Parts: sequence; C-alpha cells; structure tokens
Amino acid sequence: MSPSPSDPATAPGATVLSVEGLHLTVGAGRAEAVRDVSFSVRAGEAVGLVGESGSGKTLTCRSVLGVNAPGVAVSGGRIDLGGTELTALGARAWEQVRGSRLGAVFQDPASYLNPSLTVGRQLAEPLRLRLGLKRAEARARAVELFTSVGLHRPDEVYDQYPHELSGGMLQRVLIAIAVACGPELLVADEATTALDTVVQAEVLELLARLRTERGLALLLVTHDLAVVAEVCDRILVFYAGEIVEDGPTAEVVAAPAHPYTEALLRVASIGDWQRRDLAVIPGRPPEAGAAPAGCRFADRCAFAAEACSEAAVPLTVRADGRRVRCDRAEELALSGALSTDRSRQEVPA
Ligand SMILES: Nc1ncnc2c1ncn2[C@@H]1O[C@H](COP(=O)(O)OP(=O)(O)OP(=O)(O)O)[C@@H](O)[C@H]1O
Ligand SMILES: [Mg+2]
Repeated sequence: MSPSPSDPATAPGATVLSVEGLHLTVGAGRAEAVRDVSFSVRAGEAVGLVGESGSGKTLTCRSVLGVNAPGVAVSGGRIDLGGTELTALGARAWEQVRGSRLGAVFQDPASYLNPSLTVGRQLAEPLRLRLGLKRAEARARAVELFTSVGLHRPDEVYDQYPHELSGGMLQRVLIAIAVACGPELLVADEATTALDTVVQAEVLELLARLRTERGLALLLVTHDLAVVAEVCDRILVFYAGEIVEDGPTAEVVAAPAHPYTEALLRVASIGDWQRRDLAVIPGRPPEAGAAPAGCRFADRCAFAAEACSEAAVPLTVRADGRRVRCDRAEELALSGALSTDRSRQEVPA
C-alpha cells in the first residue's frame, strides 16, 4: 500500500539530515563561499539558518536539495539523508530522492509552478508517478492535501491555474506538493518573506503543524529572527560562509555566545528590541574566497583582540553542547559581555 500523507516520515528523534564538513565553491575562480559546514537535523526538529545576506544559507540548502546553481561546486564534505549519502548519488537516484524524501519551498512560489497546468494536476502528477496512484485516487489525495494545507474549496482550487491564486495560496499549493510524498525533510528558504504579515503567520503556523503531525524535519532560512524564535528548536548562525554559532534557540537568544550573534540580535526585531532604526552592524563580511588569517568577523567585532586576527578559529563544542567559533567565547560568557540584558541597556532610549 502507498504511504498515507499523514504517516510520520521517520521515527521521532532519529537523525534525518547530517551535513559534514561541507565546502562549496562558486564561479570559474572556484572561490570558497561555504566552508566546513557541519550540522544535523533530527526528525520533528526545526532548525533555523540565519545570517546576513551572502553568508551561504541558500548555497547550503541547495546542496542539501541537490540543486546547486550553475557554477556552484561541492569541493568537500558529505551530506547524508537518513542513511543515504546524497553527495554520492547519480542523477537518476537524485531525482527519486528529491521527489519523495525531500521537499522544498522558496520565496517565489509562482516560478516553481507551470503556468499552463492547473495546480491540481501539478500535485496529482507526482502522486501518480511516485506513489503509483490511479487518476481518481490521485485527485482525491490531492484534494485531501489541499485541505490539509488550509486551502478553502480545495475541489475548485484543484482546477485553477497558478495566475488565479494569491501568493499565500500559491505557497500553500507548493507546500502541499512538497509534502505530498511524505518527505523526511522540508527545506523552506525565505518561504514567507514575500508574503504580508498575516499570511506569513498563517503559513508559518501551517509549517509548524505539518512538522508536528508528520514528524517532518524542517530547515528554515529566514532573515526574521522573530520567526526563528517562534518556530525553530535550534538556530545555526552563518557568517561569511561558516557556522559561527549553533544551539537551542531559546538559549542562544537569551545568551548569545558569539559576538556576531549578539550583534544580529541587537538589530533584530524580537520583543523589546523592535528598533529597526539601529544602525546595521558596521562594516562588511569578507567576500567569498577571501581568506583572512584569523577570525572572519574580527574586523567588525566589538570584542576583537589582536590575537583574533592571527589564526583561524575552530568551531568549538562547549560543555553544554552548544557550538561557537570564537576564541574569546569563554571569557565573554564569564564576564557577561554578550548577555542580551546588557544589549538592551546599551540601546539608547
Ligand atoms: N551561482 C553563483 N555564482 C557565483 N556566486 C554565487 C552563486 N550563488 C551564490 N554565490 C555567492 O555565494 C555567497 C553565498 O550566497 P547565498 O546565496 O548562499 O547567500 P544567502 O546567505 O542565502 O544570502 P541571502 O540572505 O541574500 O539569500 C554570496 O557571496 C554569493 O554572492
Ligand atoms: Mg538566500
């Protein structure tokens, strides 16, 4: 029997995705844009990827999905999805995995749909192909999926074309397609960025519900730290192609361990910090391919010492399991220099 769309994809707590030492290069010059990125995601876990524009979030997600843009190459590392080494797959095997075990939603849903086919057909086709459902069964399952992603009058929606639907409805259609074959992992890269606030909240609620109902693992990329705080169990902070901090969201937000995370939180809009007029962190990250001798954040860091610019900084695992890439992290934690209370005090009234 074909799997029901409501079957949990994987046993709770099992590791679904494991990325180890991923290196990605871009362009003819093979500039290194993602370096030594390692993380894992468990079944039912939501992990948020944050960091400034150009920090490597999308590149990382696209390699997990096996859809690297032209010019982007994997130059090292390993990606494993529930025991399948994705980095070793051939094109046909990738097609299989992408269509059934991985789901993806991006910022611009319309560009991922065929404008000349009804949205129902675009959902029913993969159900027929991958789950072997007959035409009528596929239609019934598609309508059921449209209902489960909160589309009203799903029967009518089935026969509509993409241009007849709003941005929020299109994103729901894409989410229905993404979860149709019971994937283990859903990657959402800026999936709610283009939507207005109310629709954004609804779509986030939908993702959170699907994750709970199906034990889906969720990899969520967003610029909005408030969204991460609400949806994600864990947060991965990217800076200039590297992970600089990783930990449970609540702990990281309450007590960031890396000066970059603290700076990001200070300019973000969480709770009391709704002060978008604060100057963004001064300076710019190093370009892809640039290889400063020491910490890549040193020249923008309020806490940098001379030694920070001398040698590369490893991502260290703390006793509590959190990871941080800062030589001064322990010292800063002890002194309370990065506590978010202090940041609040520093914000001018
Ligand atoms: N196809 C490409 N060719 C050349 N360089 C690229 C390509 N894709 C990405 N890059 C470069 O790689 C770096 C990381 O890009 P990426 O798209 O992953 O950033 P991001 O963190 O997703 O940023 P944003 O928040 O703006 O979406 C950037 O410096 C970008 O210019
Ligand atoms: Mg991006």
